[in-house]
Amino acid sequence: MANLLDQLAAMTVVVADTGDIDAIRQFTPRDATTNPSLILAAAQIGTYQELIDRSLRESREVMGANASADAVVHEALDEICVTFGKEILKIVPGRVSTEVDARLSFDTDATIAKARKLIGLYNQAGIGNDRVLIKIASTWEGIRAAERLEKEGIHCNLTLLFGFAQAVACAEAGVTLISPFVGRILDWYKKSTGRDHYPGPEDPGVISVTQIFNYFKTYGYKTEVMGASFRNIDEIIELAGCDLLTISPALLDQLRSSDGELERRLNAFDPAPTQDQIHLDEPAFRQMLAADPMASEKLDEGIRGFCKAIETLEEQLTHRLAALEGGAALTHAAHEIFQLNDLDGDGCITREEWLGSDAVFAALDTDNDGRVAADDVRGGLGAPLAMAARG
Ligand code: G3P
Repeated sequence: MANLLDQLAAMTVVVADTGDIDAIRQFTPRDATTNPSLILAAAQIGTYQELIDRSLRESREVMGANASADAVVHEALDEICVTFGKEILKIVPGRVSTEVDARLSFDTDATIAKARKLIGLYNQAGIGNDRVLIKIASTWEGIRAAERLEKEGIHCNLTLLFGFAQAVACAEAGVTLISPFVGRILDWYKKSTGRDHYPGPEDPGVISVTQIFNYFKTYGYKTEVMGASFRNIDEIIELAGCDLLTISPALLDQLRSSDGELERRLNAFDPAPTQDQIHLDEPAFRQMLAADPMASEKLDEGIRGFCKAIETLEEQLTHRLAALEGGAALTHAAHEIFQLNDLDGDGCITREEWLGSDAVFAALDTDNDGRVAADDVRGGLGAPLAMAARG
């Protein structure tokens, strides 16, 4: 019998939830999803440093030599998200989800502008809109932005979705896909009830996705349902048959090494009985969300968490940019000094050629052979020049 992952893939689109490109390669997901926390985590992996550096250099070029470090880093955030997305698209045959800056979650126009910019970066690389989902937090403002973006052919994945009101508003807005966060719903219930175990069928995150799925299918909404944020494979097993499930590499691995028969739990062609259809305008949406403390708290907390991830990444990028540009300035300065002193152009400076003081020459001539090579100049001047570049 096939393992659980293969059985799942036969009834649900399996999506990899990670920014770790190598991890995606180990599985064969159709799509992949990223978010600010996942990009931040991937940015810590040494093998992706070159992607980060490339994005920083490109951003410097786009912003110009006189742009401030803050402006370059701000630009680089978009570049990095899209760079990871482009790399991921070399592996997955389907779509990648790239998230709009969470700090724009309550600003419809700014979200639209950012989404257009991100999709523009993909388009410049020859990647069509059909291969990208722009991820937007499921606030009222985010949902309105998605509604407009969908009308211009930019497909959206509405994330940080915890409550039924958010799901209904997304479906009514015609968004392509929603990501209800199963595990974070469970986290909230565990914390608020003190109960430390919920078997799969009783898991409140599973119950929430099941309700949304059956409602969408019953009333013919086209919005795809992609369960996300899983804490264990039981949650995934209980949602077999969902349109899509986005799963971390660790849980994909567990599914791949687990046997047993996987039963379909959700069926788009035969949805379980559901509630009466509702329609939500802004006041009704806000009222329903406010009446659901889990959804409102988790939405706010999720936005705060993604903002924090972005700010942390920004800080890291600021340091890296300084190192890159400080390093380039240092190489340039060392080169100039070397050229100036290598009077006969033989590739090394002798004590006679050196125009500076004996003490500096002695410090650069670390092997005391009376000759200083270009690398000695760069190495010897590294510390003071790097300090000057930082200061
Ligand atoms: O796709 C959503 C997911 O990445 C969030 O997962 O584990 O942070 O709740 P988690």
